[in-house]
Amino acid sequence: MLLLAIDTSCDETSVAIVDKDRVLANKLSSQIKSHKEWGGVVPSLAKRKHEELIDLVIEKALRQASVTLEKIDVFAVTVGPGLAIALEVGIKKVQELAHRFKKPVVAVNHMEGHIHSAFAKNSQGKPELTFTFPVLCLLISGGHTEFVLMQDHGKYQIIGETLDDSIGEAYDKVGRMLDMGYPAGPVLEVIARNGNEHAYDLPVPMKYSGNANMSYSGLKTATMQVIQHEISSSRNIYTEKFNKRIQESYKKRFGNIKIQSDSLHETRDEAGIVADIAASFQRAAVEQLLLKTRYIIQSVFGKKPPSHMIIAGGVAQNIYIRKKFRRELKDTVTIHYPTSPKLYTDNAGMIGIAAYYNALRGNFISDIKSLDRMPNWRVETVSY
Ligand code: KG4
Ligand code: ZN
Repeated sequence: MLLLAIDTSCDETSVAIVDKDRVLANKLSSQIKSHKEWGGVVPSLAKRKHEELIDLVIEKALRQASVTLEKIDVFAVTVGPGLAIALEVGIKKVQELAHRFKKPVVAVNHMEGHIHSAFAKNSQGKPELTFTFPVLCLLISGGHTEFVLMQDHGKYQIIGETLDDSIGEAYDKVGRMLDMGYPAGPVLEVIARNGNEHAYDLPVPMKYSGNANMSYSGLKTATMQVIQHEISSSRNIYTEKFNKRIQESYKKRFGNIKIQSDSLHETRDEAGIVADIAASFQRAAVEQLLLKTRYIIQSVFGKKPPSHMIIAGGVAQNIYIRKKFRRELKDTVTIHYPTSPKLYTDNAGMIGIAAYYNALRGNFISDIKSLDRMPNWRVETVSY
């Protein structure tokens, strides 16, 4: 079964060709550069860019997979959650293609896609993984932070979620205040490696909430207050000189990826403060995830902890988070991540894999013409 999948839910125009659960091509045209100067995603700009890029990305994906549109058995598209006017672009394109080639359509939930990034195989059928249900899924990205209990493909229950910001958003906003550009999450992680995570006593949100919900806006505000305090203190972390130097040191470190804390020696005072704030924020942000995971394993699973856990979404690339989870769960749960680097951030490969499992269940759209975007579609209402 050959599927062509499209995801235009946010700021990546992505098209994939999937053969059953194997990803043959996963093409992506990122709009990060276009949104960078605004410090976040601008929906109208995203829509325009998707429209400009979609045909080209389809062509690239087909070429890489060495298939033609005539060979495609199923068309799949993300219909939500995501930016309404951006989702529309992918939906329209799939309606057009399905009509032209008289083929069925699968409407995919974007979060179901993120979950399936851990089920994806490459063109050689690797890796071969087995999952024992129920699987506990933690989806951490720029748009979402949620725990999903997966009973089977197509059967999901949200057991905890953020009540305000997502974790990725918090990383991005705090990082932006520290001059780390956009998206700031990956930069903040690297800078934090040079810091002392106990330097600032930032609060772990929702510590005593007695449920698996999360929150990031309070931690973000508390961190911003610390930054403001440091700016106004005698240590003034925002002198022009400091800004120039830290920009240079970011560049130096990201140019060759290898991070040497030695390169910071010269600017230890100012850069050290930034690193300490970043590390302290990260400690509190991640402690919340660990705390809620512990809570779920004890209170939802009780005597029988899950055998498998999936951690997916852009933030799952964070090495600090992965280390913490490995240490925390090494004796109880096998943790799975997206099976290749391209499957972490938004991409159509994961949408194609989710679509394949939907197609196996015959979960096709009956009236393609009336297919509509669902910007707030919750994964638990995916039909089985
Ligand atoms: O999955 P994704 O592309 O977005 C959504 O589906 O929403 O994830 C993007 C988010 C951004 O907020 C970015 O800053 C964050 O993932 N991110 C990270 C890291 N890499 C990406 N956050 C923290 N540490 C990282 N290493
Ligand atoms: Zn996403």
